[in-house]
Amino acid sequence: MTTAIAIEDVRREVKILKGLAGHCNLIKIYDAYEDNDNVYIVMELCRGGELLDRILSRGGKYTEDDAKVVLVQILNVVSFCHLQGVVHRDLKPENFLFTSKDEDSSLKAIDFGLSDFVKPDEKLNDIVGSAYYVAPEVLHRSYTTEADVWSVGVIAYILLCGSRPFWARTESGIFRAVLKADPSFTEPPWPSLSSEARDFVKRMLNKDPRKRITAAQALCHPWLRNHGEVTIPLDILVFKLLKIYMRSSSLRKAALRALSKTLTVDELFYLKEQFALLQPSKNGTISLENIKEALLKNATDAMKESRAHEILTSLTALQYRRMDFEEFCAAALSVYQLEALERWDQHARCAYELFEKDGNRPIMIEELASELGLGPNIPVHAVLHDWIRHTDGKLSFLGFVKLLHGVSSRTLIKTH
Ligand SMILES: *[C@@H]1O[C@H](CO)[C@@H](O)[C@H](O)[C@H]1NC(C)=O
Ligand SMILES: *[C@@H]1O[C@H](CO)[C@@H](O)[C@H](O)[C@H]1NC(C)=O
Repeated sequence: MTTAIAIEDVRREVKILKGLAGHCNLIKIYDAYEDNDNVYIVMELCRGGELLDRILSRGGKYTEDDAKVVLVQILNVVSFCHLQGVVHRDLKPENFLFTSKDEDSSLKAIDFGLSDFVKPDEKLNDIVGSAYYVAPEVLHRSYTTEADVWSVGVIAYILLCGSRPFWARTESGIFRAVLKADPSFTEPPWPSLSSEARDFVKRMLNKDPRKRITAAQALCHPWLRNHGEVTIPLDILVFKLLKIYMRSSSLRKAALRALSKTLTVDELFYLKEQFALLQPSKNGTISLENIKEALLKNATDAMKESRAHEILTSLTALQYRRMDFEEFCAAALSVYQLEALERWDQHARCAYELFEKDGNRPIMIEELASELGLGPNIPVHAVLHDWIRHTDGKLSFLGFVKLLHGVSSRTLIKTH
């Protein structure tokens, strides 16, 4: 370590590892020392070698059950980091160590040298990581925690089929593949694997980070959730979505409520787990106090740095009322993730029918603009005219879907 920047990097790594200390799938750090020339870090000894070596020694392929054991541990530690506001940024099989040579030894995430704290609304922009595992949005220089999930998706793909999803001879060729190519799920052994396994990997390798599942959601996926070792962790995404929901117009809330009534058992599984983690009272409602307690119970020192708990100040609208599970579903569902599903069109059509029955009413363009909080600089008639059905002046299907996605003056100017 010679340059000042490198020393800063190591100090940050030590700070992150100390801040996150305590998770069972995270390398334990005992202490760090500096002299004039070096920084010394004393860490737990892992005798089992890298996950990469174990993959290679097996000839590159895991059975689905063996892959689950590995992926549950990886997703556990990744979802934990994300809740604390830490992005690892270099997840790959070289950065997971087995504690011992035993087949069933546990796995520890190491090398937080490229990791960083990220505030709830912040995007990072430096291109770091390893080419085979880098997410498309990292190459576009605007990313946050979802980029780690992509890397786990690449690891999952390799574990299950023994080859890389994005491959080329040169680095620029790999980047092009990451940005443009769809990984193959038709070559052997994919057709002989379960459809849940394929779906699980595909959802982590969605190129749109808003549509990609989170690490906590991956643990709720049908492929993993019945695996013995799974405990579902609190998902930082829930806090982000609650915040957006609390700031939405009543019209958008009504649209989300209609959409939430179309959720399937699989989608509700995740929301039920998350709601339970917020520890509702006996009558099945949560308060701001419950949300605060749940978040702070899981907070490490890292969360102070990433300011993840600042999310709570954006939820103060909940201070004087409580939320039941029905409303929570509307608040914590991700429209973008639902849109990534094949049955999205059905979801949206069904939701619109429900909205037609309960919530749709004639609305003037000016009133709609003010409901949406659009600024005076927006040409509202030009932008919103097809949001309204000309026959009866109610919200059209197109307007309904746009409303679900949420709009701001900024996005409307950009897309108009
Ligand atoms: C539910 O329980 C909470 C806490 O015990 C209480 O504050 C709230 O008023 C109750 N809500 C209803 C609808 O009964
Ligand atoms: C978070 O809090 C829950 C509830 O107390 C606890 O079961 C869980 O182990 C905690 N998770 C972490 C990562 O601290």
